[in-house]
Amino acid sequence: MKSTTLLAIESSCDETGVSVVRKEGVELRVLSELVASQANIHKATGGVVPEVAAREHLAVIGPMIQSAMKQAGIDQHGIDGIAVTIGPGLMPALAVGVQAAKTLAFVWRKPIVPVHHIEGHIYSALLAGEDPNSYTALLASQQVQALDSAMPALGLVVSGGHTMLIEVTDHLTYSTLGQTKDDAAGEVFDKVARMLSLPYPGGPHVSALAEQGDAKAYDFPRPMRHSGDLHFSYSGLKTAVLYQLQSIGETVSDQDRASIAASFEAAVIDSLAAKLVQAAKQKQYRTVLLAGGVAANKRLRARMQEEADALGVSLRIAPQALCGDNATMIGQAGVFAYEAGRQKNWNEIDASARMDIEEFSSEKLQANS
Ligand code: KG4
Ligand code: ZN
Repeated sequence: MKSTTLLAIESSCDETGVSVVRKEGVELRVLSELVASQANIHKATGGVVPEVAAREHLAVIGPMIQSAMKQAGIDQHGIDGIAVTIGPGLMPALAVGVQAAKTLAFVWRKPIVPVHHIEGHIYSALLAGEDPNSYTALLASQQVQALDSAMPALGLVVSGGHTMLIEVTDHLTYSTLGQTKDDAAGEVFDKVARMLSLPYPGGPHVSALAEQGDAKAYDFPRPMRHSGDLHFSYSGLKTAVLYQLQSIGETVSDQDRASIAASFEAAVIDSLAAKLVQAAKQKQYRTVLLAGGVAANKRLRARMQEEADALGVSLRIAPQALCGDNATMIGQAGVFAYEAGRQKNWNEIDASARMDIEEFSSEKLQANS
């Protein structure tokens, strides 16, 4: 039976991820999955300083690769290649993972499978199946034959760096339908968290505070709702929250803060849902995908389910454990890419802070290679 085993590496932002993923026929297994988060380090600055992130990746990546291989019970002879995120992301951070992958590829004489970070997020949802709670991280095993019936799919990727609507026409074939014109959804969660004196990363804290608030207390703007296109914008919403807090001033109560959090969260979710529905009505999609750090948000997950039910399309949401950055998703996209022929020499790849996901579509890759 055809079998592909990849070591996968992710270092595009503030999580170092190393996983070993194996696809054997229609069976996909995560043989090991390690994630080292730097969130505690970046708390002090309230955001990620790229050079600090790179230093932290460098400190842990070597031992993590060794541990991931050991936990998977294999050595270099047991892998077919190395999947690595080559972009987009923070350049110094990306460079650490890419250099590690290049060095190993050279020494072990293995091909590299370059993966687009968003492609990874998309596969984490695509592979989630109908029940995202069934994923148990380590040693997860699943059947992948049902994947073809999920396409064409409409993917919403919401993270600290991205807010994107992506059409997945077929395996490894993407087109970007819309994206944010300024801040990403996760980024505004982080910035609003800072305004509310909540720690970094702010999303989970804003969401927890919102539990005690009234989501209808403040009528924050639903950005770009009537723009006619599928793009997003969040800087106006961020400013509206700031002005609201300033207008209340020193008298701000805990109840005010909770209601601001709840009203803000509702505005983000409404705007994401509105664009998703608008896109879904333009074409007959079989599946809607939700992935990225913000996809961990309970209320967003519930809202997407309501919208998907109303649209009559099935929904696949990345499992909670794979919403944040991790290398399993890079390995998951990687095994499909490897089998489609995306295999590069160590000296053929480079990290890049910006890159379009379209460049990774399988037809393009074949045309370029
Ligand atoms: O995908 P991710 O780990 O990193 C990037 O690629 O950016 O996403 C991290 C982002 C952060 O902005 C964080 O605040 C946000 O995801 N996030 C959330 C929640 N959990 C994480 N936002 C809203 N609600 C949450 N529960
Ligand atoms: Zn991400």
